[in-house]
Amino acid sequence: MCGIVGYIGDKDVYPILIKGLKRLEYRGYDSTGLALCNNGINLYKQKGKVSDLEAYVADKDINGSIGIGHTRWATHGEPNDTNAHPHSSMKNKFSIVHNGIIENYADLKNDLLKKGYTFSSDTDTEVLANLIEYFYEQDSEITAEYAVRLALSKVVGAYGIVVISNDEQNKLIAARKGSPLVLGIGKGEYFIASDASPIVEYTEHVVYLNDFDLVIIEKESFTLKNIENNPVSVKIQQLNLEIGELDKGDFEHFMLKEIFEQPQTIADTFRGRLRPGQQDIVLGGLIDVLPQIVNAERIIIIGCGTSWHAALIGEYLIEEYARVPVEVEYASEFRYRNPILSEKDVVISISQSGETADTIAALNMAKEKGALILGICNVVGSTISRETKAGVYTHAGVEIGVASTKAFSAQVTVLTMLALKLAKEKNTIGEELYSILISELSTIPEKVKTIILNHPQIKEVAKKYMNAINALYLGRGYLFPVALEGALKLKEISYIHAEGYAAGEMKHGPIALVDDNLPVVVVAPQDDYYEKIVSNIQEVKARKGNIIAVVTEGDKRLKEMVDDVLEIPKSHPAVAPLLAVIPLQLLAYHIAVLRGCNVDQPRNLAKSVTVE
Ligand code: G6P
Repeated sequence: MCGIVGYIGDKDVYPILIKGLKRLEYRGYDSTGLALCNNGINLYKQKGKVSDLEAYVADKDINGSIGIGHTRWATHGEPNDTNAHPHSSMKNKFSIVHNGIIENYADLKNDLLKKGYTFSSDTDTEVLANLIEYFYEQDSEITAEYAVRLALSKVVGAYGIVVISNDEQNKLIAARKGSPLVLGIGKGEYFIASDASPIVEYTEHVVYLNDFDLVIIEKESFTLKNIENNPVSVKIQQLNLEIGELDKGDFEHFMLKEIFEQPQTIADTFRGRLRPGQQDIVLGGLIDVLPQIVNAERIIIIGCGTSWHAALIGEYLIEEYARVPVEVEYASEFRYRNPILSEKDVVISISQSGETADTIAALNMAKEKGALILGICNVVGSTISRETKAGVYTHAGVEIGVASTKAFSAQVTVLTMLALKLAKEKNTIGEELYSILISELSTIPEKVKTIILNHPQIKEVAKKYMNAINALYLGRGYLFPVALEGALKLKEISYIHAEGYAAGEMKHGPIALVDDNLPVVVVAPQDDYYEKIVSNIQEVKARKGNIIAVVTEGDKRLKEMVDDVLEIPKSHPAVAPLLAVIPLQLLAYHIAVLRGCNVDQPRNLAKSVTVE
């Protein structure tokens, strides 16, 4: 949430920052800004996208080789030019970009107001800029870095900040607590950013900052310490990111590209792990803790948004095959509700970004209560992946579309492998079924390809329903979470109100909504629930609802009964979520595009929610 990029070196800073901001725009896109050092610090800020900022600076002096930039997802104060970052302190001694939330900003602001400080924005960030300046001015001996440390010691909340001092324009000062920052190490130049995407084309060497780290970055060197001024050991890591992953290629949108990538990304997720020849599954990141997971009394899976939906599928699979009690919790609820946890519990966090604030907080709470904490993350080097004892990377590659697609299928792939692995270890699955499921999983990429080939037909269906105001999604068993995910996709990117429901619950409320205007998307492949879901379809039909059914290829019965069918290849029910979700992603995508929505950057949303 919000993107930060900073540069210090000999190159022109403006193109580096603008390109970096474009890469970061998926994190927030309501306003953008730059601070460039060029005989003083010059600020350029605009409401809107990075392209608006480019137009704004077209006739301005943008020289300089040190600077910071920011793309914002508003928390305090509406998106406008004034609230855009960077923020300067009252006497322009400091300029700062900030991700996160300063929770005690109101108290700090009141104190500063009493000391004569004035504020031009509604942001918590300007409070921090003024607080740094206040400490700086207390004594002529106080350096910019010391003032930053003093100010941060007063802050309650989360921050990833980069600061420029007017008196010490030869350095950037960055610090982190709760909001990610990564330092890129070049030759005679350094980069600092909220993720590696603006850095990848310049260097492969990075240092991920940990909470309470502070780094002073000069052109020729950097110093890493903590905010209490103690040295911190530097761990330089190799960046594992291809620049091509950050481009749309020939696709109109990142979301479509990412949907189309799924045959490959699912295969990447199980590559080297799923071993059909040897009838085995190897999850390298869990080997050391496998006995603890196998002996766990309970598994709790936490996540937010799409990751939470993947977690629900994990619950159904693990309970079915490994016979371990599983609970799935919204991280935002779990972290605050004082749950009962012990060292016999295993808490698995699922997060594409590995940076979601609620998930990190829930995880830390579980760790304090003694549970074994594990991560299923997509972003290598992310906070969750570093803070968990062990885990599994999903290997879906960079996901840029705000609405998650390929990360979801990768998460479900990992959870399916985990369920089967545990079942094998616990002896709760027969050899034959185990090997059937391993080969079923290995056929998924080819099957996903055939669904994607059907995408023009899905677009035709989208045309029929593009003007809907509401939509209902129904599913049963493993496909109930898929119905939730289908509804979320439609809601996120088309702004059509959509609800996902367990089909059996329909008669307890949602059926009241059914009339001849309501599209009802029913996930109805031929599985054990088929007859039951056919009954649900009949109940909707009897009330004149329009039904779009996701069906098994060749299902003539449902084809005659419903308005539109989206076919998926036949599969074992345990792997059906990986197929059934694809037409729902494409349906939401086409409806949103037909409605003229910005599918990659839907309004009010952000890809990585690093604030509460
Ligand atoms: C945001 C994104 C969603 C994502 C959720 C959880 O809301 O827009 O697509 O599912 O955060 O993110 P995570 O990175 O933890 O999976």
